[in-house]
Amino acid sequence: MAEVQAGRRRRRRRRNEGIVIHDDWAGYSLDLFSYPTHYSGDLDSVIIPHGVIMDRTERLARDIMDDLGDHDIVVLCVLKGGYQFCADLVDQIKALSCSSERTILMRVHFIRLKSYLNDQSTEDLHILGAEDMSFLTGKNVLIVEGIVGTGKTLETLLKHVEAFRPKMIKVAGLLIKRVENRSACVPDYVGFEIPNRFVVGYALDYNEYFRDLNHICVISDSGKKKYKI
Ligand code: HPA
Ligand code: MG
Repeated sequence: MAEVQAGRRRRRRRRNEGIVIHDDWAGYSLDLFSYPTHYSGDLDSVIIPHGVIMDRTERLARDIMDDLGDHDIVVLCVLKGGYQFCADLVDQIKALSCSSERTILMRVHFIRLKSYLNDQSTEDLHILGAEDMSFLTGKNVLIVEGIVGTGKTLETLLKHVEAFRPKMIKVAGLLIKRVENRSACVPDYVGFEIPNRFVVGYALDYNEYFRDLNHICVISDSGKKKYKI
Protein backbone atom coordinates (compact mmCIF):
# COMPACT_ATOMS: atom_id res chain seq x y z
CA MET A 1 0.00 0.00 0.00
CA ALA A 2 2.79 2.38 1.01
CA GLU A 3 4.57 1.50 -2.23
CA VAL A 4 1.44 2.17 -4.26
CA GLN A 5 1.06 5.56 -2.56
CA ALA A 6 4.73 6.43 -3.08
CA GLY A 7 4.34 5.49 -6.77
CA ARG A 8 1.32 7.77 -7.04
CA ARG A 9 3.21 10.63 -5.38
CA ARG A 10 6.15 10.14 -7.76
CA ARG A 11 3.85 10.17 -10.78
CA ARG A 12 2.08 13.28 -9.53
CA ARG A 13 5.41 15.01 -8.91
CA ARG A 14 6.51 14.17 -12.45
CA ARG A 15 3.27 15.55 -13.88
CA ASN A 16 3.90 19.00 -12.56
CA GLU A 17 7.57 19.06 -13.47
CA GLY A 18 7.30 18.52 -17.20
CA ILE A 19 10.18 18.02 -19.62
CA VAL A 20 13.02 20.23 -18.39
CA ILE A 21 14.74 22.40 -21.00
CA HIS A 22 18.02 23.54 -19.48
CA ASP A 23 19.44 27.07 -19.54
CA ASP A 24 22.40 26.01 -21.72
CA TRP A 25 20.12 24.55 -24.44
CA ALA A 26 20.64 26.88 -27.39
CA GLY A 27 17.78 25.36 -29.39
CA TYR A 28 17.71 24.04 -32.96
CA SER A 29 18.80 26.15 -35.89
CA LEU A 30 15.85 27.65 -37.75
CA ASP A 31 17.37 26.34 -40.99
CA LEU A 32 16.37 22.81 -39.93
CA PHE A 33 12.64 23.61 -39.89
CA SER A 34 9.93 25.22 -41.97
CA TYR A 35 8.44 28.44 -40.62
CA PRO A 36 6.70 31.46 -42.16
CA THR A 37 9.21 33.48 -44.19
CA HIS A 38 7.70 36.73 -42.88
CA TYR A 39 9.47 35.95 -39.59
CA SER A 40 12.94 35.37 -41.00
CA GLY A 41 15.42 37.40 -38.96
CA ASP A 42 12.90 37.78 -36.12
CA LEU A 43 13.80 34.53 -34.33
CA ASP A 44 16.97 33.13 -32.72
CA SER A 45 16.17 29.41 -32.54
CA VAL A 46 13.50 26.74 -32.22
CA ILE A 47 13.40 25.56 -28.63
CA ILE A 48 10.44 23.16 -28.93
CA PRO A 49 9.48 21.84 -32.37
CA HIS A 50 5.77 21.47 -33.10
CA GLY A 51 5.93 17.66 -33.28
CA VAL A 52 7.41 17.45 -29.77
CA ILE A 53 4.65 19.71 -28.44
CA MET A 54 2.07 17.39 -29.98
CA ASP A 55 3.69 14.26 -28.54
CA ARG A 56 3.92 15.77 -25.07
CA THR A 57 0.30 16.95 -25.29
CA GLU A 58 -0.80 13.41 -26.13
CA ARG A 59 0.81 12.19 -22.91
CA LEU A 60 -0.69 15.02 -20.83
CA ALA A 61 -4.11 14.08 -22.19
CA ARG A 62 -3.55 10.53 -20.98
CA ASP A 63 -2.49 11.71 -17.51
CA ILE A 64 -5.59 13.91 -17.34
CA MET A 65 -7.82 11.03 -18.46
CA ASP A 66 -6.26 8.75 -15.83
CA ASP A 67 -7.01 11.30 -13.11
CA LEU A 68 -10.31 12.79 -14.27
CA GLY A 69 -11.68 10.16 -16.65
CA ASP A 70 -14.55 9.30 -14.29
CA HIS A 71 -15.88 12.85 -14.29
CA ASP A 72 -17.47 15.22 -16.73
CA ILE A 73 -15.33 18.35 -16.98
CA VAL A 74 -15.57 22.01 -17.81
CA VAL A 75 -12.48 23.14 -19.69
CA LEU A 76 -11.58 26.78 -19.15
CA CYS A 77 -9.33 27.89 -21.99
CA VAL A 78 -7.22 30.93 -21.14
CA LEU A 79 -7.00 33.12 -24.22
CA LYS A 80 -5.23 34.09 -26.21
CA GLY A 81 -1.97 32.25 -25.55
CA GLY A 82 -3.66 29.01 -24.52
CA TYR A 83 -5.92 28.52 -27.54
CA GLN A 84 -3.68 26.19 -29.56
CA PHE A 85 -2.65 24.05 -26.60
CA CYS A 86 -6.27 23.86 -25.44
CA ALA A 87 -7.52 22.86 -28.89
CA ASP A 88 -4.88 20.14 -29.24
CA LEU A 89 -5.30 18.91 -25.66
CA VAL A 90 -9.10 18.69 -26.02
CA ASP A 91 -8.62 16.80 -29.32
CA GLN A 92 -6.34 14.29 -27.63
CA ILE A 93 -8.69 13.84 -24.65
CA LYS A 94 -11.56 13.32 -27.12
CA ALA A 95 -9.59 10.66 -28.99
CA LEU A 96 -8.76 8.81 -25.76
CA SER A 97 -12.30 9.20 -24.50
CA CYS A 98 -13.77 7.71 -27.70
CA SER A 99 -11.60 4.65 -27.39
CA SER A 100 -12.30 4.07 -23.68
CA GLU A 101 -15.26 2.38 -22.00
CA ARG A 102 -16.62 5.53 -20.44
CA THR A 103 -16.66 8.68 -22.55
CA ILE A 104 -15.90 11.97 -20.86
CA LEU A 105 -18.27 14.87 -21.40
CA MET A 106 -16.39 18.13 -21.92
CA ARG A 107 -17.73 21.65 -22.12
CA VAL A 108 -15.26 24.29 -23.23
CA HIS A 109 -15.38 27.91 -22.11
CA PHE A 110 -13.05 30.76 -22.95
CA ILE A 111 -11.74 33.58 -20.82
CA ARG A 112 -9.21 36.18 -21.73
CA LEU A 113 -6.31 37.41 -19.62
CA LYS A 114 -4.01 40.23 -20.55
CA SER A 115 -1.04 41.40 -18.55
CA TYR A 116 1.90 41.69 -21.00
CA LEU A 117 3.11 44.70 -22.98
CA ASN A 118 6.13 44.01 -25.21
CA ASP A 119 7.99 41.33 -23.23
CA GLN A 120 7.17 42.73 -19.77
CA SER A 121 4.47 41.69 -17.36
CA THR A 122 2.35 44.63 -16.22
CA GLU A 123 0.72 44.97 -12.80
CA ASP A 124 -2.82 45.27 -14.09
CA LEU A 125 -4.26 41.93 -15.02
CA HIS A 126 -7.48 42.00 -17.00
CA ILE A 127 -9.84 39.04 -16.82
CA LEU A 128 -12.41 39.30 -19.60
CA GLY A 129 -15.43 37.08 -20.18
CA ALA A 130 -15.27 35.78 -16.61
CA GLU A 131 -17.64 38.10 -14.80
CA ASP A 132 -20.32 35.49 -14.16
CA MET A 133 -18.96 31.98 -14.04
CA SER A 134 -21.70 30.50 -11.85
CA PHE A 135 -21.87 27.65 -14.37
CA LEU A 136 -18.69 26.36 -12.67
CA THR A 137 -20.39 25.75 -9.31
CA GLY A 138 -20.12 22.10 -8.34
CA LYS A 139 -18.23 21.21 -11.54
CA ASN A 140 -14.81 19.66 -12.21
CA VAL A 141 -12.82 22.41 -13.87
CA LEU A 142 -9.70 22.06 -15.99
CA ILE A 143 -7.98 25.41 -16.58
CA VAL A 144 -5.75 25.34 -19.67
CA GLU A 145 -2.91 27.89 -19.90
CA GLY A 146 -0.24 28.33 -22.57
CA ILE A 147 2.50 29.67 -20.30
CA VAL A 148 3.02 30.30 -16.61
CA GLY A 149 5.71 32.74 -15.53
CA THR A 150 5.79 33.83 -11.89
CA GLY A 151 2.43 32.15 -11.31
CA LYS A 152 0.86 35.40 -10.07
CA THR A 153 -1.59 35.51 -12.99
CA LEU A 154 -2.59 31.93 -12.31
CA GLU A 155 -2.97 32.69 -8.61
CA THR A 156 -5.34 35.59 -9.38
CA LEU A 157 -7.30 33.45 -11.82
CA LEU A 158 -7.58 30.56 -9.35
CA LYS A 159 -8.95 32.90 -6.66
CA HIS A 160 -11.49 34.20 -9.17
CA VAL A 161 -12.57 30.68 -10.19
CA GLU A 162 -12.62 29.37 -6.60
CA ALA A 163 -15.15 32.05 -5.69
CA PHE A 164 -17.68 30.18 -7.87
CA ARG A 165 -17.16 27.04 -5.73
CA PRO A 166 -16.34 24.35 -8.31
CA LYS A 167 -16.07 20.77 -7.01
CA MET A 168 -12.47 20.48 -8.18
CA ILE A 169 -9.96 22.61 -10.08
CA LYS A 170 -6.99 21.25 -12.02
CA VAL A 171 -4.62 23.30 -14.14
CA ALA A 172 -2.78 22.22 -17.29
CA GLY A 173 0.05 24.50 -18.46
CA LEU A 174 2.05 23.80 -21.59
CA LEU A 175 5.07 25.81 -20.39
CA ILE A 176 6.34 26.98 -17.04
CA LYS A 177 9.26 29.38 -16.87
CA ARG A 178 12.13 28.94 -14.46
CA VAL A 179 11.91 32.35 -12.81
CA GLU A 180 13.38 33.31 -9.44
CA ASN A 181 10.27 34.81 -7.90
CA ARG A 182 7.89 32.02 -8.84
CA SER A 183 4.87 31.70 -6.55
CA ALA A 184 3.84 28.35 -5.10
CA CYS A 185 1.13 28.23 -7.72
CA VAL A 186 2.19 25.61 -10.30
CA PRO A 187 -0.06 23.75 -12.77
CA ASP A 188 -1.00 20.15 -11.96
CA TYR A 189 0.01 19.08 -15.48
CA VAL A 190 3.07 20.69 -17.08
CA GLY A 191 4.31 20.17 -20.61
CA PHE A 192 7.77 21.73 -20.40
CA GLU A 193 9.82 23.73 -17.93
CA ILE A 194 11.77 26.33 -19.90
CA PRO A 195 14.52 28.90 -19.18
CA ASN A 196 13.53 32.45 -18.31
CA ARG A 197 13.53 33.72 -21.91
CA PHE A 198 10.77 35.29 -23.94
CA VAL A 199 9.34 32.66 -26.28
CA VAL A 200 6.81 32.90 -29.08
CA GLY A 201 4.84 30.60 -31.35
CA TYR A 202 2.13 27.96 -30.92
CA ALA A 203 -0.26 30.82 -30.04
CA LEU A 204 2.19 32.63 -27.74
CA ASP A 205 2.67 36.17 -28.94
CA TYR A 206 4.83 39.22 -28.79
CA ASN A 207 2.40 42.15 -29.16
CA GLU A 208 0.02 39.85 -31.08
CA TYR A 209 2.67 38.64 -33.57
CA PHE A 210 4.03 35.08 -33.90
CA ARG A 211 0.78 33.30 -33.02
CA ASP A 212 0.90 31.97 -36.60
CA LEU A 213 4.13 30.06 -35.95
CA ASN A 214 3.92 26.31 -35.16
CA HIS A 215 7.14 25.83 -33.21
CA ILE A 216 8.02 27.45 -29.90
CA CYS A 217 10.94 29.77 -30.64
CA VAL A 218 13.12 32.36 -28.98
CA ILE A 219 12.51 35.82 -30.41
CA SER A 220 15.59 37.74 -31.60
CA ASP A 221 16.52 41.25 -30.50
CA SER A 222 15.70 42.55 -33.98
CA GLY A 223 12.31 40.77 -33.81
CA LYS A 224 11.60 42.54 -30.52
CA LYS A 225 12.53 45.87 -32.04
CA LYS A 226 10.49 45.31 -35.17
CA TYR A 227 7.23 44.56 -33.36
CA LYS A 228 7.68 46.84 -30.33
CA ILE A 229 4.85 49.25 -29.48
N1 HPA B 1 6.01 34.56 -24.39
C1 HPA B 1 4.74 34.95 -24.65
N2 HPA B 1 3.88 35.29 -23.70
C2 HPA B 1 4.31 35.22 -22.42
C3 HPA B 1 5.61 34.81 -22.08
C4 HPA B 1 6.51 34.47 -23.12
O1 HPA B 1 7.68 34.09 -22.90
N3 HPA B 1 5.70 34.84 -20.74
C5 HPA B 1 4.49 35.25 -20.29
N4 HPA B 1 3.63 35.51 -21.29
MG1 MG C 1 0.60 37.57 -24.79
